[in-house]
Amino acid sequence: MASTSQPNVHGIFDPATWTVTYVVYEQEGAPCAIIDSVLDYDPKSGRTSTESADRVIAFVREKNLKVQWILETHAHADHLTAAPYLKAQLGGRTAIGHRITTVQHVFKGIFHLEDAFETNGQQFDHLLADNEAFAIGHLTATTLSVPGHTPACVAYQIGDAVFVGDTLFMPDVGSARCDFPGGDAKTLYASVKKILSLPDATRLFMCHDYPPDDRPVCFESTVADQRAHNIHLNDGIDEASFIQLRTARDKTLAMPVLILPSVQINIRAGEFPPAEDNGVSYLKIPLNAL
Ligand SMILES: [Fe+2]
Repeated sequence: MASTSQPNVHGIFDPATWTVTYVVYEQEGAPCAIIDSVLDYDPKSGRTSTESADRVIAFVREKNLKVQWILETHAHADHLTAAPYLKAQLGGRTAIGHRITTVQHVFKGIFHLEDAFETNGQQFDHLLADNEAFAIGHLTATTLSVPGHTPACVAYQIGDAVFVGDTLFMPDVGSARCDFPGGDAKTLYASVKKILSLPDATRLFMCHDYPPDDRPVCFESTVADQRAHNIHLNDGIDEASFIQLRTARDKTLAMPVLILPSVQINIRAGEFPPAEDNGVSYLKIPLNAL
């Protein structure tokens, strides 16, 4: 059964955005899910490319996997999703947590998007309800609502593995920022406690790693490891202390380099804005709005 199964998890790290894309599958030749893909984007030229996504495609083909789902844990603010490219190359259905509609609504306002931009999530093939279960071949995935970093964040529990999105990072890095629109440190604390109430041996897979200089990139941990060692959220840190720590740290953080392009693309499920009458698609930069 899903609760005792141990899916295969293959992580592909993108060094440009510190993001990990995961391929989750039962065995070679089986259906799979891809979680949190990356479309390469050069902010200097405004040009996109697919080296990162092509590494995912190569792995999927090497293992003869059949893509059933292309999942997002949230509307990322630090990289563009490659979901439409992956879907065109490999098939599968795109999905994200249903509260993406809240994020779409907020950013439709901030970016003053075209009237035709819908904020009902229709850009995705499927919106996942809280605790919604879905199949990846013989595996069962469950959608866990874990807001805080954004109001729409979800994690995916698949057998003994949980893909935590932007909640926890590796124990020596701590937790995700909570200062984006709709973010909230108190809410993140509750979400993380939900994840850390799972069995000790539960494998946790991070969405990012920002390693200190003295260790290589890694992105897998366990509930026990996080409860003992997470510098922001170990068992010895109470809610008030976390909120104080998180809020103080967020005040020191610059906006991610790719937040403006990322959000505009990701709330469209990775599609570019409609081309203008010269055939070119444009992104907007709102001045003094963020
Ligand atoms: Fe994020």
